Amino acid sequence: MMSRINNLEDYAVDYRKSVTEPEKFWAEQAERFVWRKKWDKVLEHDFHDYNVEWFKNGKLNITENCLDRHLLNRSDKIAIHWVPNDPKEPDRTFTYRELHEEVCRFANVLKRNGVQKGERVCLYMPMVPELAIAVLACARIGAIHSVVFGGFSANALADRINDADARILLTADFGPRGSKKIALKEVADEAMENTPSIRKAIVLQRTGDEVNMVEDRDLWWHDELERVDNECAPEIMDSEDPLFILYTSGSTGKPKGVVHTTGGYMVYTAYTFRNVFQYKEDDVYWCTADIGWITGHSYIVYGPLLEGATSVMFEGVPTYPDAGRFWRVVDRLRVNIFYTAPTAIRALMAQGQEYVELYKLDSLKVLGTVGEPINREAWEWYHHHIGKGHCPIVDTWWQTETGGIMISPIAGVLPTKPTYATLPLPGIQPVLLDNDGNELHGNGVEGNLCIKFPWPSMLRTTWGDHERCKNTYFSTFKGYYFTGDGCRRDEDGYYRILGRVDDVINVSGHRLGTAEVENAINMHEAVIESAVVGYPHDIKGQGIYAYVVCDADKLEITTVPEIKDEIMDVVIDKIGKIARPDKVQIVRGLPKTRSGKIMRRILRKIASGETSNFGDTSTLLDPSIVDSIKIGVVKDE
Ligand code: PRX
Repeated sequence: MMSRINNLEDYAVDYRKSVTEPEKFWAEQAERFVWRKKWDKVLEHDFHDYNVEWFKNGKLNITENCLDRHLLNRSDKIAIHWVPNDPKEPDRTFTYRELHEEVCRFANVLKRNGVQKGERVCLYMPMVPELAIAVLACARIGAIHSVVFGGFSANALADRINDADARILLTADFGPRGSKKIALKEVADEAMENTPSIRKAIVLQRTGDEVNMVEDRDLWWHDELERVDNECAPEIMDSEDPLFILYTSGSTGKPKGVVHTTGGYMVYTAYTFRNVFQYKEDDVYWCTADIGWITGHSYIVYGPLLEGATSVMFEGVPTYPDAGRFWRVVDRLRVNIFYTAPTAIRALMAQGQEYVELYKLDSLKVLGTVGEPINREAWEWYHHHIGKGHCPIVDTWWQTETGGIMISPIAGVLPTKPTYATLPLPGIQPVLLDNDGNELHGNGVEGNLCIKFPWPSMLRTTWGDHERCKNTYFSTFKGYYFTGDGCRRDEDGYYRILGRVDDVINVSGHRLGTAEVENAINMHEAVIESAVVGYPHDIKGQGIYAYVVCDADKLEITTVPEIKDEIMDVVIDKIGKIARPDKVQIVRGLPKTRSGKIMRRILRKIASGETSNFGDTSTLLDPSIVDSIKIGVVKDE
């Protein structure tokens, strides 16, 4: 069995096999793991009435594969090297033996607090080792984890807790981030006013600042740990038992809980981690994402641990205490593989060369990017200044729903091309469809990116609403998984992601639905309606531009700046800072067709600075609205 793709020929062989004999191919990959009972069938699927099962009736526990499996040969190897926000605070490291012990202990804490197999546990935590430990502890006992990024507001947290009907909330007093501290417990308290399902909150003391503790509900993490031992046998799970829920935004409605299951997710995240990054036994790997996003789940927690890797976990931000922070950590810990987001690269690039030149960066072998399209300038800067011209860049395209990397170079194996995610990984069969659903064959074509065959880590459902899953991903183009992205296949057959073709915007690599932001804005009492679009932003990739119609009675000219600020505050309150509009324009009306549909195309053009070439506007009900919007456009500061 080929365990690693070492050259182009291996890639071609693996790829061909994954298409012609997918079940055989993935069975071979799955053999590497500990199964308590082998599967009866590798794959069953139906893309019409969506149902996919991988490694059917296989029994396993993913933490046994992440931890116990390494105790024989890697027990003293560092699994997690944690770097705190404040450089003056000491690092913390966990060997595989120590991590195993901590996970078992915390699993016992969860059990002691009545958490049952299949129940949901919500995590609202800073980037500390305890977050990874708690995630794994859930998996150890078969509880379903739902991690909510620490930047979301109380409302957003409560929505997610309620949707998943979570019983336990894991949180911390505060979360240090740069020069600030996020009051996680305070936000959690506010959320818990509206979450009847929560029985207990277990609170980690991260900063030691005083927080409110509610009797009979809130427990200290450290107290609970004192009450348990460190033996916890893994719960035996079915291959298709849910492992976690992760909420993500779509073009309509509230964020949906993407559900990933156990066996396929394990096999695929391990396979892609090993191959894409070409991880070798003594390498030090660092993914700068937050565990609150899918990248953190798959490529900080599961993928690296499944492969017995040493990972750096970082609590801070790229620019604190200065813009050299990443590079200082890279040199100090001799990081070999570095995986980050284009936004971070652009932000650091804008800070100037001097922060890079202070560091050697000679340990680096492989660089990666994820989450949004990378522009050529940022790619070249990353390549020359960070990779010193010799580190391959893996531009990895994937999604919360795909669970793992889908289209990406394999480091040092597939030749790269700036701004291209290049070629599909083995097992992935991308197709480009025109708007009528016809497959575009050959090269030099552009269309809607779809996947036509299942892969092991694809989402299985959206929590509590399978119809929504079917409608969102499998109904636009019958028989295909639709990604929501536009894509070009160039003359060499290389794939270049062009960005979303739906009403999803990608701000600093964070996905937001325009409808979600509009719903928040519309909650302001003076607002009648609004339309939100993305526009090109030098650092964030896309910025958020909000066109807002206000009630004339409530809007006097003198209060416009105030209303704008209030609108931003409403969005921060309903969703969180990540959704705060960059620009708000109060308009007298929105450009609508006679049938009442907002012509977003025009709004997108105006937001990106275009004043003409609006295409066919003959269906507009009141063309003069467009002119009035153009006059009032909000310029860059
Ligand atoms: O538009 C694509 C963009 O991010 C979307 C997925 O967002 P999310 O589910 O939050 O997952 C992000 C981390 C995997 C995609 O639909 N995207 C992701 N990676 C890339 C990308 N766009 C271009 N290039 C990429 N490498």
